[in-house]
Amino acid sequence: MPALTTEECYAHASRFSGRVALITGAGSGFGRALALKFTELGAKVILGDVDAKGLAETVRLVEASAGKGKAVSGRCDVTSWDDQKALFALGAKTFGNIDIVLPNAGVTELHPFDPSQLNGQEDGPTQPNLTTLNIDLIGVLYTTRLALWYFAYADKREDPGLRAIALTGSMSSFYGSYGVNYSVAKAGVIGLMKGLIPTSNALGIRVNTVCPYFSKTAILDEGFVHPHPELGFAKIEDVVSAFVASISDTNPKSNLSAYLIPDQWGVYRMDARGEYVGAEMARRPKGQNPKHKVQGKL
Ligand SMILES: NC(=O)c1ccc[n+]([C@@H]2O[C@H](COP(=O)([O-])OP(=O)(O)OC[C@H]3O[C@@H](n4cnc5c(N)ncnc54)[C@H](O)[C@@H]3O)[C@@H](O)[C@H]2O)c1
Repeated sequence: MPALTTEECYAHASRFSGRVALITGAGSGFGRALALKFTELGAKVILGDVDAKGLAETVRLVEASAGKGKAVSGRCDVTSWDDQKALFALGAKTFGNIDIVLPNAGVTELHPFDPSQLNGQEDGPTQPNLTTLNIDLIGVLYTTRLALWYFAYADKREDPGLRAIALTGSMSSFYGSYGVNYSVAKAGVIGLMKGLIPTSNALGIRVNTVCPYFSKTAILDEGFVHPHPELGFAKIEDVVSAFVASISDTNPKSNLSAYLIPDQWGVYRMDARGEYVGAEMARRPKGQNPKHKVQGKL
C-alpha cells in the first residue's frame, strides 16, 4: 500500500497563510520543525516549552527564516494549568485568535511503573511516579481544554475558517512500548480524539492524531538502537508533512484520523474505522479497496 505523497500532504498547505498556531514542546524536535514549517507557510506561532534555552533557539530560527513578529513564546510547563493558561492568553493578546493547537510536548518513560523492575520494594509497594503520564497525557488534556475554550468562546469571527487540534500520538498508541506510563498516555491521546468526535462536529474543527514510530529527536537516548532496524527511523520531514495534511486537508472524511509514520517510507492515514487509506486506494473505484486491518481500531 503506497504512502500519501508529500504533494498530497501539502495539497492544501496554503490554508496556513495568516493563521495562528500554538505549539507546546516547541523548544526541540518535532515542535521546532513544525514552528519553522508553519511560519514558512505564512502562519504565526505561539510557542511554549519548559526548556527556555531550547525555546529561545526556536524563536531565533523562526525569526531568521520568517522574520520578526511571527513568533511569541513563553516558558510553559504543560503540567501546570496556570502556565498553559498564560501561554494561550499571551498568544491571543499578541495575535488575536488562535486557529491551530498542537499539544505536542512530551517525554519518554521517566520512571518505571512495573515494581518488579525496581529495587527497594521489600517493605511494601511504593506509590508510582506518574510524571510521564502527567506530561504526556494530563498536559495534553489541559492544552486541549484551553483550545476548545478559545474556539468556542473567545473566537468572535463569523466564519473562523480553518481551525484544528493536532495531537501527537505515537505508534505506541496502538502497539504499546516498553514504558507503561508512555503507552497509557499515547493510547489516551487516541482516546481523547475519539472523545472529541461530537465536539469536532459541533464546532467544525479538525481533530487528528499524528503517530510517528521512532524518529531521531532529543527524546531518544544517545546510542538508542532501533528494535526493528529494517524499518529505519521516521523522518522528521514526514512527521511535519503528516501534521500539515492532518490540519489543512479540506476533505471532511479525512477528519478524526490517525496519520501514521511507521517507518522511513512516509505517511499513511488510518481512518476512524481503523483502515489504512493510501493514495492508490483513494483512486480506486468505490468498493474495490482492499481492507488493511490493523491492530487497535480507532
Ligand atoms: N521522536 C520520537 O521517536 C517520537 C515518536 C513518537 C512520538 N513522539 C512524540 O513527539 C512529541 C515531541 O517529541 P520529540 O520527539 O520532538 O522530542 P524532543 O525531546 O526533541 O522534544 C520534546 C519537547 O518537549 C519539551 N517538554 C518536555 N517536558 C515538558 C513539559 N513538562 N512542559 C513543556 N514542555 C516539555 C522538551 O523540553 C522538548 O523541547 C512527544 O509528544 C513525543 O512523545 C516522538
